[in-house]
Order: sequence, then structure tokens, then C-alpha cells
Amino acid sequence: PRASSYPAWITPLGLLHLLPLIPSRTRAPPASSSSTTSRRPSTPTSSLPATNSTVESLCVALSNGGFGPPAGELAGVVPANLLPYWYSTDQFSLELIFHRRILAHRCRTADPSAAAAFYIPFYAGLSVGKHLWSGDAASRDRDSALLLRWIKEQSPWKRSNGSDHFIALGRISWDFHRSGNDGWGGSFLNMAGMEKVTRLIIERNPSDKGRRSTVSDGVPPRTAAEVRQWQRFVLNRNRSTLFVFAGAPRPQVKDDFRGFLFKECKRAGKGTCRSLDWWKVRRQNRSSAAMRLFLDSAFCLQPKGDSYTRRSMFDCMLVGAVPVVFWRHSAYGQYEWYLPGSGEGREGEWSVFIDSREVKNGTVSVKEVLEGIGEKRAREMRERVVEMIPRLLYAAADEGLGEGMQDAFDVAVKGVLRRFRGAVVPAA
Ligand SMILES: *[C@@H]1O[C@H](CO)[C@@H](O)[C@H](O)[C@H]1NC(C)=O
Ligand SMILES: *[C@@H]1O[C@H](CO)[C@@H](O)[C@H](O)[C@H]1NC(C)=O
Ligand SMILES: *[C@@H]1O[C@H](CO)[C@@H](O)[C@H](O)[C@H]1NC(C)=O
Ligand SMILES: *[C@@H]1O[C@H](CO)[C@@H](O)[C@H](O)[C@H]1NC(C)=O
Ligand SMILES: *[C@@H]1O[C@H](CO)[C@@H](O)[C@H](O)[C@H]1NC(C)=O
Repeated sequence: PRASSYPAWITPLGLLHLLPLIPSRTRAPPASSSSTTSRRPSTPTSSLPATNSTVESLCVALSNGGFGPPAGELAGVVPANLLPYWYSTDQFSLELIFHRRILAHRCRTADPSAAAAFYIPFYAGLSVGKHLWSGDAASRDRDSALLLRWIKEQSPWKRSNGSDHFIALGRISWDFHRSGNDGWGGSFLNMAGMEKVTRLIIERNPSDKGRRSTVSDGVPPRTAAEVRQWQRFVLNRNRSTLFVFAGAPRPQVKDDFRGFLFKECKRAGKGTCRSLDWWKVRRQNRSSAAMRLFLDSAFCLQPKGDSYTRRSMFDCMLVGAVPVVFWRHSAYGQYEWYLPGSGEGREGEWSVFIDSREVKNGTVSVKEVLEGIGEKRAREMRERVVEMIPRLLYAAADEGLGEGMQDAFDVAVKGVLRRFRGAVVPAA
């Protein structure tokens, strides 16, 4: 099911599972749930039988240090000199990308007594991913249980019970939260011993406390200069359309909110809104098609998908369009180390919030809200989004972007260290 290919260079999230939509945890996501945000460049068909998705090889997705295959289809869309650094990245590669960067981190030490934080180099998402659609509870938990058995014998763990340990997880929270023997996912995050471990995860449950969501994937630029070139490029684009919506309609879902947005877009007219129906674009072309759309638009609509967050939001921001969210949990209080203002009411600097219920009952028109923002304010918001770009991507170079420019990895490590012992990362 993680079938579609959303290549992409940058971003984070995806969401494939019916996180909020499934009332009980006893049902697995339908096999055809590949959503707008899933991405698996290597998959041959868009709706693999559920029983077989687990045998799909991840070799292509994990190539190039986790960035995946080069995104050649972006030729003509991104500046030619930057094209070689764009990849079709799978969000599940986060674990690999993170590990690679940790190994090269300037604060890394081989002396446990000198360490302020301990990274757990375990690919929990890749491990459970092999067994999500098949296999029993025991197979989903086997690797995690082995890890915990081992780590509990290590002296750094014995000193802290894990409170100064952290791990990066390339799947959403729900995939690790099974309780009992039935139900979706593995139970890694419910296992005894994991309580104090800080988890960097691509999407957390509204109920999760003490977990930080992290962004994954990336247009992996190598240097700060390349990022600045990209920022100038997206800032100076002439955006001919007010808003865009790229997504997969779900006609079989009653009152599917995406259906409302396609209608809003149609009503707004071609000069104001453009939409992209995911099912009508060949998989290999979705990334470039979405990117062209986002590059030409001031705002992009980001309803929740199968789960609250949506990788597309980051794809949108990375090309300098301002996201419009319809559920607070899709963006706010979710990525607080990366997106300014979560919890401080500053979300309005870089995003627009429109209550989904008001769109549904017709009391609010997306077009009117966005037109009401005005060009000057829209420009300021775009500048804010563009300023945030480095923090939303992962640098290709092991040592990061340089020149003091922080990417998503740097932001995460800094946040972890501040959380443990108030340690501070010295500037690069
Ligand atoms: C699953 O995939 C494998 C490898 O591609 C194939 O050999 C096998 O027949 C498939 N099984 C099913 C049930 O489709
Ligand atoms: C770790 O947990 C065990 C079991 O709950 C407890 O006995 C021990 O005191 C804890 N150690 C620390 C350092 O918190
Ligand atoms: C954007 O449009 C303005 C006015 O039409 C034009 O002068 C400018 O060159 C355009 N910029 C780009 C980057 O195309
Ligand atoms: C769509 O993707 C195919 C295969 O990657 C490529 O050859 C083709 O040029 C793409 N078409 C467009 C319009 O980008
Ligand atoms: C529309 O929905 C909003 C939010 O739930 C509610 O406050 C408002 O009263 C509703 N208006 C109508 C006309 O139903």
C-alpha cells in the first residue's frame, strides 16, 4: 500500500494510515490507502495486495544514503545546477538519514561518560514495516524486544533508564502503539523501558506527551549557498494562482473533505485555483506536477489525509507556498522545533487556518478568506515560509549545510540536547 511514488525531495510526512479515521485499532488500513503523501518510487503498481506489500524491496528507496533515486523528472522545474541534488526521498528513510548524520556529528564521542545524550541506532520503522500487513504481533515486535533486552544491559542505560536516550522513527506513532495482541502495528513504544526515551517521529498522536515530531526527507542540498539560491528562486517566482490543491479524492468516503476542496477550487475558477487529482497523474510524474503547481501558487490547501499531517505540507513550504490548514493538529503543536509559534499563537505568520467545519457547512469560502489576506500580507507570509526552508530539509552532506545554517537534523539534535541537561550545541 505504500504504493504511490511520491518522489520528493524534501519533506516530511506522509500519511498513509487511517490514523484518525479508524475508530478502533483493530482494523488495518485498507490496502488501497496509498495517499497523496505516500511515496515509494520503486513500487510497480499503485494498489498492491495487502498481503504482499511487505516483500517490496526498499533497496531503491534507501539508496544514496537514504535519499533514494535522483529525481530526474524535476528537470525544467528546478534550477539546472541544483537538479543533481534532488532525490525522490521516502519518509521511511528518516532513520537511515538520521543515523548517518549522527555518525558524523561534531559532538559525537566514543566516551560514554562524556556524553550528554545517547542515540539509539535502531531502525524501528523499517523493522516493523516489514510485518505491518502480514505477520503476527510477535513478528512485528521481535526486533524491538531484542533491542530492549540488549540495551537494558548497557551501562549508560542503567544509569538513566533511558531518560537521556533518543531515537528517530520514520513511521507515524500509530505504527508503534499496538496494545494487546490484536490490532494494528507493533508495540515498540508501549514496551516496558521505552517510557523515558525521547522519540523523534514523523507524526505524533494528539495524546502523545513528550514526543517531538520531526520532519523527514529532503531536497538535499549540500551547502548553505545552494539553499540560499533555492530560497531566492522560490521567493522571486511569479505566482499566477492564488491557491492550489493536490490530492487524491475519495469518492467512496462519505463527505470526504477533499471532495469539498476540489469543488471550492472549481468554483473559484481557473485563474484563482488549480487542482491536481492524484489519480489522474502517472505516479512518476506526481512530484514534478505537484511542484510546478506549488511553485506557481501563493497558497496550498492541506487538509488532513489518512492521518492529520501530510507530507504535502512540507513539499508546499519548500517551494515557498503558504500552507492553509483545516485541522489544527495537522500542523500546530506538532512540529514545534521546526515551525515557529506552535503554542504561542504565531502560526499565522506562516500559515492560514480555516476551520474545516465552516468550509463544510458553507459558512466560509476558502477563496474569500485567501483573497481577504491581501498581497502585502501574503508576501510577508511567503517570506516567512522561505526563511524557514532550511529547517525543513535534510542536508546531503554529512557535516550539514555549513555557515551556521541549520537543517532539520541540526534542529532535532539541538532540541534533544536542550531537553537533556540543558546542553548546548556549539556553533559549527
Ligand atoms: C509476493 O511477492 C513475491 C515477490 O515479488 C512473489 O514471488 C509472490 O508470489 C507474491 N505473493 C503474492 C501472494 O502475491
Ligand atoms: C531504573 O528503573 C528501575 C526499575 O524501575 C529502578 O529500580 C531504578 O532505580 C531506576 N534507575 C534510575 C537511575 O532511575
Ligand atoms: C514576474 O513578473 C514581473 C511583472 O510581470 C516581471 O517583471 C518579472 O520579470 C517576473 N519575474 C520572474 C522571475 O519571472
Ligand atoms: C512523466 O514521467 C515519465 C517517466 O519518468 C517521463 O518520461 C515524462 O517526461 C514525464 N512527463 C512529464 C509531463 O513530466
Ligand atoms: C458552521 O460550523 C461552525 C463551526 O462548527 C459553527 O460555529 C456554525 O454555527 C455553523 N453554521 C451553520 C450555518 O451551520
